[in-house]
Amino acid sequence: MDSKARRYLFEKAKEFVYEAGQRIKEQIDQPRTIETKSNPNDLVTEMDQNTEKFFAESIRNEFPEHRLFGEEGFGDDIQDLKGIVWIVDPIDGTMNFVHQKRNFAISVGVYEDGVGEIGVIYDVMGGALYSAIRGEGAYKNDLPLRMPEKKRIEETILALNTSWLIPENPHINHAGVAELVKTIRSTRSYGSAALEFVYVAEGIIDGYLTMTLMPWDIAAGKIIVNEAGGLVTTADGRELDMLNKTTVLASHIDIHKEIVENYVQLKTK
Ligand code: IPD
Ligand code: CA
Ligand code: CA
Repeated sequence: MDSKARRYLFEKAKEFVYEAGQRIKEQIDQPRTIETKSNPNDLVTEMDQNTEKFFAESIRNEFPEHRLFGEEGFGDDIQDLKGIVWIVDPIDGTMNFVHQKRNFAISVGVYEDGVGEIGVIYDVMGGALYSAIRGEGAYKNDLPLRMPEKKRIEETILALNTSWLIPENPHINHAGVAELVKTIRSTRSYGSAALEFVYVAEGIIDGYLTMTLMPWDIAAGKIIVNEAGGLVTTADGRELDMLNKTTVLASHIDIHKEIVENYVQLKTK
């Protein structure tokens, strides 16, 4: 894709995201039908589904040759990332959407042959649009995002899920996580992967460690964090798999290796 085509795609991605966000805002106080998916805490609403349908229609109208990899099943059956693929989470942080009516985001990543070209994350109720084009930096609305020059592990604020401190958790050695929590300055847990990525990019937290993300949780955030100067890998430091469930560590470059090597011991690879 040349830079003109990329810029056009970027403008269209932002247009779709703003329009989808506007529709959500207009209906934020309407009564909700809430269903559960894989477990009683895995929520989905008609708003998640309608928003993804809106993206499916918009993308198919404007770019019939592109494919959609979406959480709610209105996209294509994606087995590879050949060509141009939009990776969309219509509402990331559905539990926050249901319980808080805020702290959720729309996340759109556009990949070409597996390479992340465009990332757009919209904090709908906060009114902040985070975006990046590969090689052109990351922005919050119109302001460039840069992470702090230096970061020491002792001064780190890390987003993580406290359930990894439970010894029986199936993913990670809890003792390593406990050591990490003792070493760093503090932890946070925001309940939206997309927002946790952009907070890393913004430098208001220094890292985000998680065990079970899907490609639509990661696609846009990875591009935005990379363009702000951060590093995004699996929790044990490998390249991310953009087709399957994965662990993730997105962080400031100075602390990434130290967290991977000294604190993360995964139970399964
Ligand atoms: C979830 C959120 C949450 C993360 C979960 C995701 P959803 O996405 O990003 O913060 O911990 O793993 O599934 O279901 O609200 O789109
Ligand atoms: Ca999600
Ligand atoms: Ca979602």
